[in-house]
Amino acid sequence: METVILKGEKAILEGARLIQSGDVVVFPTETVYGLGANAFDEEAVKKIYLAKGRPSDNPLIVHISSKDQINSLVENINPYAQKLIDAFMPGPITIIMPKAKNIPSIVTGGLQTVGIRMPIHPVANSFIKACGCPIAAPSANVSTHISPTNAFDVYEDMQGRVKLIIDGGDCNVGIESTIVDTTSSIPTILRPGGVTAEMILSVLGCVQSFTGEVKVALAPGMKYRHYAPSSNMIIAQNNDIKTKYEEAKEKGYNPIIIAEQQLIDSLSNIKYISVGSTDDEIMRNIFASMRKADRVSDYIICQDFGNEGKRGSVMNRVKKAAGNGTNNN
Ligand code: TXA
Ligand code: MG
Repeated sequence: METVILKGEKAILEGARLIQSGDVVVFPTETVYGLGANAFDEEAVKKIYLAKGRPSDNPLIVHISSKDQINSLVENINPYAQKLIDAFMPGPITIIMPKAKNIPSIVTGGLQTVGIRMPIHPVANSFIKACGCPIAAPSANVSTHISPTNAFDVYEDMQGRVKLIIDGGDCNVGIESTIVDTTSSIPTILRPGGVTAEMILSVLGCVQSFTGEVKVALAPGMKYRHYAPSSNMIIAQNNDIKTKYEEAKEKGYNPIIIAEQQLIDSLSNIKYISVGSTDDEIMRNIFASMRKADRVSDYIICQDFGNEGKRGSVMNRVKKAAGNGTNNN
């Protein structure tokens, strides 16, 4: 299968045509690129799992272009869900609600709940609107790879697996949406992201983070390995990142450091990739930096960016890439 990359109005029209004929299409969002199909077309949804090489018990997020669509996709919207919709949609959040009966169970991996997300990216919005149906989509990476945040990174994974990649440039947020389960007695963050726990707390007055060991997975993706570069990857503290770098060289590796600009400025004689200076920049650049590092080095040393707010969301992904913790797919 030939994979075409298109931009602009032409891309949206061709994407909508493919979706309506039961095919899958890669499209940009503000978080990461998605691999979409008509959420009501079981055969089309099966093609998503096939293209990604993903286990089909791992549910997909349903993407919409207007809040009016939510009512037909869920059984009910409780007050917590409504507050999150009002405060953060459209934007980098996925809200888990009880599913409506008409959503095929292949979309929700057999669960009685569904994750709803309304991207704020203008190309995503125009694309979903043009399709005329809700779009089921996971991140557009091959299962266990890092989520792609630009069309080139998508192509690296999806070449020959999809007919069309809609190119919307670099993703502005850069890590996957925050997932909040509103069906638990206290709303629960299943995956941290650009909408932080602090932001949710200020709107809901309560929220908990899922931190336990994954036995029965709440977000089934949690039980799968993910985000892994093929190179070795470790996390280092600011004060011993240079030592770790020298140690790796002595062992015969070709190491590279991923860090924020300020730390890089304090180091010399190193190979590095800068993720920028602000929290938003770090989040925006982390995945693309890991992919870049993976191409040129066999030993990635990533700075520990800390636990606060968006940096905490970034570290959630970095730890998974370094092989610690459970994973989202
Ligand atoms: O930002 C994002 O969320 C991106 C873009 C494309 O929208 N999508 C994304 O999808 O990251 P995916 O499939 O890679 O990750 C979705 C995660 C999976 O871990 C899945 O298990 C979980 O969401 N999930 C989906 N539906 C769920 C549900 N009903 N209950 C619990 N977890 C769910
Ligand atoms: Mg994913």
